[in-house]
Amino acid sequence: MRIQMVLKGKKLEEEIRPDLTLLEFVREHGCFSVKCGCETSGCGLCTVFLDETPVLSCSLPAARADKKEVTTLEGLIKEAEEFGTFLAEQGAEQCGFCNPGMIMNTIALLREKEDPSDEEIKSYLAGNLCRCSGYEGQMRAIKNFLSWRKERPGSLVIRAKTKKQPDAAGEGSESISKETAAAAGTAASIAETGGAV
Ligand code: FES
Ligand code: FES
Repeated sequence: MRIQMVLKGKKLEEEIRPDLTLLEFVREHGCFSVKCGCETSGCGLCTVFLDETPVLSCSLPAARADKKEVTTLEGLIKEAEEFGTFLAEQGAEQCGFCNPGMIMNTIALLREKEDPSDEEIKSYLAGNLCRCSGYEGQMRAIKNFLSWRKERPGSLVIRAKTKKQPDAAGEGSESISKETAAAAGTAASIAETGGAV
């Protein structure tokens, strides 16, 4: 069957096997940050964005991405760098194997919710397994990032989606502005090399 897709910002049109998974497809196109950790939809390592929604590419037929945009960590370098710095500061990347999936889902969460509670963070990231840590470092990194983001509303890469929020006067208000990369983290190399393994 033939599918069309936007991957890494480029339009593709290809003939694929009907049983090809999205995970296999993106890796065949050089997106080695997307890895297979379980094949049972249980680890989150294969997370990609289908349009704006995080999905497990190991359990999604590539055909389901027909006429959609697929984003992997390779397409989110600045955001990954920005948040990766906070992960590194907290020692939350020991072997680094879980980082691509963890970063993808954290970016999705922080785009969706401007100020998630601890419970919302835990619930959103519950599908991301890390065999090395107790998740405390990741939690500290996210909370530190949230504090940092609040102090720098004009220089964000990972920003909550701009939504019109009705205020008391019934007017809409918008938040957030232009982006700037923050720091050199390890996340860029994760995206470029696929990280550990
Ligand atoms: S490889 Fe997809 S969830 Fe583990
Ligand atoms: S740091 Fe090793 S699996 Fe998470």
